[in-house]
Amino acid sequence: MDKFFLDLGTQPLANNFQKNLKSQSQRFYKLKVIYNTHNFFVKIHKRISKKIMFNSKYPYRSSLSKTFLQNQKKLSKKIKIFFKPKKILEIGSNDGSFIKNFSTKKAICVEPCKNLAKITTNKGYKTYSNYWDTKLAEKIKTDFGKVDIVYSANTITHISNLKNVFEAIKKLLNPNGVIIIEDPSLLECIKYNSYDQFYNEHIYIFSLLSLNKFLDSIDLCIFDVENIKTHGGSLRYYVKFKKNANFIRTKNYFNQLKNEKKFGLNKLSTYLKFSNRILKSKKKLISILESINNKGETIIGYGATAKSVTVLNFCNINSSLIKFFVDTTPAKKFKYIPGTNIFIKPYSKKLIKDVNYIFLGAWNFKKEIFNKEKNFIKRKGRFITHIPFPRII
Ligand code: TMP
Repeated sequence: MDKFFLDLGTQPLANNFQKNLKSQSQRFYKLKVIYNTHNFFVKIHKRISKKIMFNSKYPYRSSLSKTFLQNQKKLSKKIKIFFKPKKILEIGSNDGSFIKNFSTKKAICVEPCKNLAKITTNKGYKTYSNYWDTKLAEKIKTDFGKVDIVYSANTITHISNLKNVFEAIKKLLNPNGVIIIEDPSLLECIKYNSYDQFYNEHIYIFSLLSLNKFLDSIDLCIFDVENIKTHGGSLRYYVKFKKNANFIRTKNYFNQLKNEKKFGLNKLSTYLKFSNRILKSKKKLISILESINNKGETIIGYGATAKSVTVLNFCNINSSLIKFFVDTTPAKKFKYIPGTNIFIKPYSKKLIKDVNYIFLGAWNFKKEIFNKEKNFIKRKGRFITHIPFPRII
């Protein structure tokens, strides 16, 4: 049974960065989060058309983070050594940060956002600029035959019809092939109060518990998982056909399952307690920002993430509390954060030279950012974060 546990108010589309404030007549959608007591899925209740969210203006670029690139490179090496794929398919290839580790002869990309698909096409990769479904899988099978690895990072959570997603993959995967999926981990999200993992693009936040049950019902089997640091704590799942005897379930798999149960991801009470913590987090964050502003200090934001959109809109934070954001993404610069009047300036060291307080929008890149901003830290500049609870670091 579906149970509501978290109300994040009304939210604009998380990646709909606006050029001017007049065009801020953007739509807002209710953002409520549900836990299903039967299948353990945690999902948002309202789905917005994929064509509205994932189109030729999609700004997110995966290759802008060093941490992400290193992770993808490491995984590619592992895939080559361990699975030795002759053909590999990536669903949601973005700007090619992962696929660039493979030869154009072996790799196929699927990326519905045309602006991003153009990037991998120009690099010589066959790229289908379509939404992933069984029809597309049939077409790729006709063009290329079956593949040995299907990889997808931070994409499957964005697709509403999970059954169709996996039926499509099954059509294209060799009997001994492996599916590798990575997405934000529900355990990390609940443990660290990262309620900003919920925004209208993230239809699901998966746990091993929920995916396991679902995939089992369609003849697939998760045999391994890895906890990885990307996107504030993700899980990478390794999946095979049940009939494939090449792999057995690993210790990691059983440990993760044990940890999720121990933490109570299969209990409604866990989510209700989480919801209470999030209401307290909202109050605390606002009070920290207000008290710094009351002292006459300026706060700027660092990393205009989709996650920040959830936080800023949920906590009603505008430019009177956070003056502006800096961000490295070309498509976000000189725009406003959706739903707010907070302007995004292209990142430059100069912009933070005279600032004493920075709100860490991209908290998931804390290590990378702290490394980059050693001077800010040296001169006793302070970061503000809301993860795992609002505080000044
Ligand atoms: P993400 O959390 O959705 O991956 O988005 C990260 C955002 O943070 C992206 O817009 C780029 C931005 N960013 C910076 O501006 N500077 C940095 O040093 C890093 C790591 C990210």
